[in-house]
Amino acid sequence: MAVNSNGLFMILKRAKVITVGQQKGGAGKTTLAAHLAVALAERGWKVATIDIDPQGTLTHWYGIRVKNFGEEMAGLTFKTVSGWRIPSEVERLQKSHDIILIDSPPHTESDAKHAIAAADLVVVPVQPSPADVWATSAIVTLARQAKVPVQLVLNRVPPQSKLAELIAKELPELTNTQMGNRVAYSGCFVHGMTAGEVVPRSKAAQEVDSLTTEVLHRLGLAKNAATHARKLKK
Ligand SMILES: Nc1ncnc2c1ncn2[C@@H]1O[C@H](COP(=O)(O)OP(=O)(O)OP(=O)(O)O)[C@@H](O)[C@H]1O
Ligand SMILES: [Mg+2]
Repeated sequence: MAVNSNGLFMILKRAKVITVGQQKGGAGKTTLAAHLAVALAERGWKVATIDIDPQGTLTHWYGIRVKNFGEEMAGLTFKTVSGWRIPSEVERLQKSHDIILIDSPPHTESDAKHAIAAADLVVVPVQPSPADVWATSAIVTLARQAKVPVQLVLNRVPPQSKLAELIAKELPELTNTQMGNRVAYSGCFVHGMTAGEVVPRSKAAQEVDSLTTEVLHRLGLAKNAATHARKLKK
């Protein structure tokens, strides 16, 4: 839940929608969607996640999460939707949430287009390889056509990667935060958790925290977020 300038809790009039997309398979969409969703929920935002990918990876992750911790402790609303139902489900969830995260499939066909059209921000994981960078243009073009801002995130970056440095110089709209290539990001999924929940002070946890702050800034929610963090500390 967000906090207004008087420090009063409130639901944002209309939830912000983040679509995680990338035509390239295995780029890290689901990993990023789950980590951002939990990190935002931990900061007190009311978060809903929508899996529109028929592979159902996020659905699987959430299923384990609920089995292990129960629906309430899972901390997120979760829906699986496809096709023409996407816009109406987003609209429905917007009434009772602050932020909605959509995990999309590895293509840019009609379902992904619905998810981009509904978004306030498209977050695109990109692995530091030429093939991944080339694949990125499809989703960036779609987002631009829909007039939705894009935020690219370098993911699975090996330590001291010269290629990643080179690519980072070439890519526009790249976050300052880079996600390292870390076992923590995959291992946590077995438990329906995030890296930060398993090892709170890990490098992965710090990266997710920093990315979450950048995303909130990009959504124009950073001011609310800072007030909210102070309120939670009290
Ligand atoms: N930063 C990372 N470090 C280590 N492993 C990662 C990282 N990001 C993702 N992975 C791993 O890479 C694989 C693919 O990630 P993920 O499923 O998130 O990609 P995706 O883009 O959603 O794939 P798809 O296109 O099939 O939906 C998974 O095994 C995941 O655990
Ligand atoms: Mg996926």
